[in-house]
Amino acid sequence: MRSVTTFSINCEISQFQRCEVSMWDSDEPIPRAELLQRVQGAHGLLCLLSDKVDFEVLDAAGPNLKVISTLSVGYDHLAMDEVKKRGIRVGYTPDVLTDATAELTVALLLATARRLPEGIEEVKNGGWSSWKPLWLCGYGLSGSTVGVVGLGRIGMAIARRLMPFGVKRLLYTGRAAKDYASEVKGEFVPMDTLVSESDFVVMSCSLTPETLGLCDKAFFSKMKNTAVFVNTSRGTVVNQEDLYEALSSGQIAAAGLDVTTPEPLPTDHPLLTLKNCVVLPHIGSATYSTRGIMAALAAQNLLGGLQGTDMPSELAF
Ligand code: NDP
Ligand code: DGY
Repeated sequence: MRSVTTFSINCEISQFQRCEVSMWDSDEPIPRAELLQRVQGAHGLLCLLSDKVDFEVLDAAGPNLKVISTLSVGYDHLAMDEVKKRGIRVGYTPDVLTDATAELTVALLLATARRLPEGIEEVKNGGWSSWKPLWLCGYGLSGSTVGVVGLGRIGMAIARRLMPFGVKRLLYTGRAAKDYASEVKGEFVPMDTLVSESDFVVMSCSLTPETLGLCDKAFFSKMKNTAVFVNTSRGTVVNQEDLYEALSSGQIAAAGLDVTTPEPLPTDHPLLTLKNCVVLPHIGSATYSTRGIMAALAAQNLLGGLQGTDMPSELAF
């Protein structure tokens, strides 16, 4: 058996006897050419969300490949139709990163709404002249309406964390109403209602053909001009030109993004010139313990797939 991992893992992968592991031992992504070369003939592939596993990679791997284990809950970087067709099993890392990602989303929402990066900058650059009644005012959660697009594992964890701030109404949308939404008094509403009535719009859906480009000119034009937009799902859920227009024209108040297109966002990108846009480098799940648990789970998924046994978190499709 041969397997390829595109990052270094510390878990006991060597327990799997007679498995030769080709490991990309770096925190930097594996160069594409290197992946295409190393994956040849592999039975398993442990990859990151930055490794696009498309036709080319699958063809390079060839018919031996029976499991792909991704160090992420999102699997939009895998050519799923082709993966299914080839009977390849997929392991991913749901649940274990939910708390870390929800926590980061709340931090980003508050940083954006209360203008923390601007405030920090003013302290450093001498712009802090005095306490002034309207200087650096933002928007608070107390008494607000929050709209969550995608009340899944992470969306629900975000809602749970936001409610104690005094949120008045929690709206959500998705493909179906959720029984568990009652815990946060969630109201299942059509997308248009959520967008037009929310003071905070939080994107926590998965990237699918339906959510690709969902947040466009029409979407932003329905938002209140005092509303704050937060995206911790995937960059391509947003049309960034339309977001730039909405932010610079005052159509919406502010945006906090943990995910962009592309990643990294070029340093001369127009969004980075806006004070009302806070951009983070895709760090939703970035706590030491979460990444460690994700790595162990991804390795166990890989081993299960290689051995033809249960995988702790196998994608059902
Ligand atoms: P879940 O599958 O639990 O939740 C995904 C949610 O997306 C579901 O509630 C689903 O709604 C919703 N959804 C799907 N299609 C639509 C649609 N057309 N309109 C509205 N909602 C839709 O996944 P997780 O909560 O675990 O993760 C969600 C995503 O978060 C991941 O796919 C990933 O892209 C992103 N993520 C980002 C991280 C970061 O670092 N920024 C970290 C981890 C995850 P329904 O159930 O009704 O179908
Ligand atoms: C995921 O898991 O999908 C995130 O984007 C990174 O943790």
